Parts: sequence; structure tokens; C-alpha cells
Amino acid sequence: MANEIRFFVLNTGAKIPSVGLGTWQADPYVVGASVDAAVKIGYRHIDCAQAYGNEKEIGGVLKKLFEDGVVKREELFITSKLWCSNHAPEDVPAALDRTLLDLQLDYVDLYLIHWPVRMKKGSVGFKHENLIQPDIPSTWQAMEVLYDSGKARALGVSNFSSKKLGDLLEVARVPPAVNQVECHPSWQQTKLHEFCRSKGIHLSGYSPLGSPGTTWLKSDVLKHPILNMIATKLGKSPAQVVIRWGLQMGHSVLPKSTHEKWIKENFDVFDWSIPEDLFAKFSEIEQARLLRGTSFVHETFGPYKTVEELWDGEI
Ligand code: A2P
Repeated sequence: MANEIRFFVLNTGAKIPSVGLGTWQADPYVVGASVDAAVKIGYRHIDCAQAYGNEKEIGGVLKKLFEDGVVKREELFITSKLWCSNHAPEDVPAALDRTLLDLQLDYVDLYLIHWPVRMKKGSVGFKHENLIQPDIPSTWQAMEVLYDSGKARALGVSNFSSKKLGDLLEVARVPPAVNQVECHPSWQQTKLHEFCRSKGIHLSGYSPLGSPGTTWLKSDVLKHPILNMIATKLGKSPAQVVIRWGLQMGHSVLPKSTHEKWIKENFDVFDWSIPEDLFAKFSEIEQARLLRGTSFVHETFGPYKTVEELWDGEI
């Protein structure tokens, strides 16, 4: 029997379920059905964000699942994220309150700074003129107050390089529990993984399938010949192998789907494993970041002039 790897333990002592449902690019009119199906299939971790524009719909479904006795609040692990235009310390509590109102919850299990990027208060969209200098220490202090109040049971960041995470650790009173970043066999985050491990920070992987439905990304993660060879040998789908690879790497995995068939398939990763000889093959896969964050850099307006600066060379 394979090691199931159902959860990982955070530096707060809380358990984070190893497979969570991603909700980025899940349209508001379909996300509810996805969350409902996922929870009924057995998912206990939903990855949300204010910027995804669908927390209200997710909240409606969660409320119904609680009322119907399908699941209890304490059995779920809910993540949300602070958007870039709410980095001003005085805006941080209101941003979480908005999320809690939309999700119809009293607390989130994990609250992340979505990007190490700051935009002008109240700005919407991705206009380069809205980019301003981030001040992560002051934003983090405001996050720490939310942790103290119990409204955020763990704190973390997203899209932070090893360097930015290290800088935060220098000033944090409450150390980040999680760094949520792009992670899949074609962008394995080897350096960041190592750094997180050495500091007791859990890595959570978004776009684990390489976000194949995203038209503006040239994603062929699921088509990689090595991955497909392994999938054929194990009699599993490429998506399942990618998710199981993540669990065996030691990070939680957040596949998004709005199709029940795939939601189910992506959760069928606990009673088998990738044997060592095949697992070693992943190191042969060529590496390239898919989400470069070009909207967050600008040579004139941006505090980060280049993508290299945004990722501190981890590109
Ligand atoms: P859909 O949302 O239409 O169900 P990622 O989690 O890497 O961002 O990838 C999400 C994308 O992958 C979505 O387009 C989703 O489709 C698709 N997807 C999810 N699960 C699978 C699967 N098991 N096989 C193939 N594609 C999948």
C-alpha cells in the first residue's frame, strides 16, 4: 500500500490537505458546482483569492454544504489571498473582512500575500501605471494582526522568490507558513523547494497541470513525453502522475477543474505511487517558468523593471 500523503503539517501545527481544488479562472457561474462536487468527492482544501472574482459564489456553496451536513467548517482548509491593491496596512483587515463576508466564514485557514507587488489603492486591472513600490514588512505586520485575531489561522505568501522569502523571514514576528508558487514537472522550483524546506515553510504548487486551458500560456506540461511514458507504465493519466509527483516531492498541489470527471480523477492519487526509478526520470525534464508575471513589471513605471528582478533571477 502506497504512503497516502493526505496532508502536510504547517509550522503552525495545522494540517494542510495535500490536494486542494484550485479556483483561479473558474467562472463564477460554474465554480459553485465544482466546489460542491469536489467536497462530495472528498476534497477538504479549497484555494481561493479575492482577485479570482468568485469568492461570493464559493461562499454560497460552502454555506449549503455546512447546512446539509456534508462537511463541517473545521474539516475544511480554506485559503484566500490579499490582492496587490490592498497592500497598504490600513487596507489589509478590510480586504480579509470582504473575503470572509463573501465566503460566509469567520476565519480562513490560510491568508497569503498574493504577489510581492503593490498597486495603487483602489486600482483595478493590470495597468502598469498602477504599480508602486511594495513595502512587504508593513503589509506583513498588518497580516500578523489578522493572525493574532484568529481571522487568519496561518499566514503565508505567494509568488515569492527565495530572496524575498528570506527578506521577509528577517522581519516577520509570525513566520510565513506557506509559499504558494507555480510548480509542476516543467518548473520544479528546486532552489525554492530547498530553501523552504530549510526554513520550515511549506511549498504549495499552483498550476500543477501547467494550466492547459489558459490560451495566453504556451503550456505543454501534460504532453511531455517523459510524463506520458510514466503515465502509460503506471496506467494513470498524465494529470494524475503530475499530482502524485507533487505529493511525493513534498508539496501540496492545487489542480483546478470545472469538470466533475477531472475533479474526481485528480483526487484519485492516494492509493498508488510513482516508483523510485520512474520518479528519478522527472529530473530529465527541461525547465521553464510558464507564468512570468510580465504584467507586474515595467521598465518605466515598475518598481520591478524586469521579470528577472521580480523573481530575483529564479527564472
Ligand atoms: P477545466 O477547468 O475545463 O475542467 P491547472 O490546475 O494547472 O491550472 O490546470 C487547470 C486546467 O487543466 C483547466 O483548464 C482544467 O480544465 C484542466 N484540467 C483539470 N484536470 C484535468 C485533467 N485531469 N486532465 C486534463 N485537463 C485537466
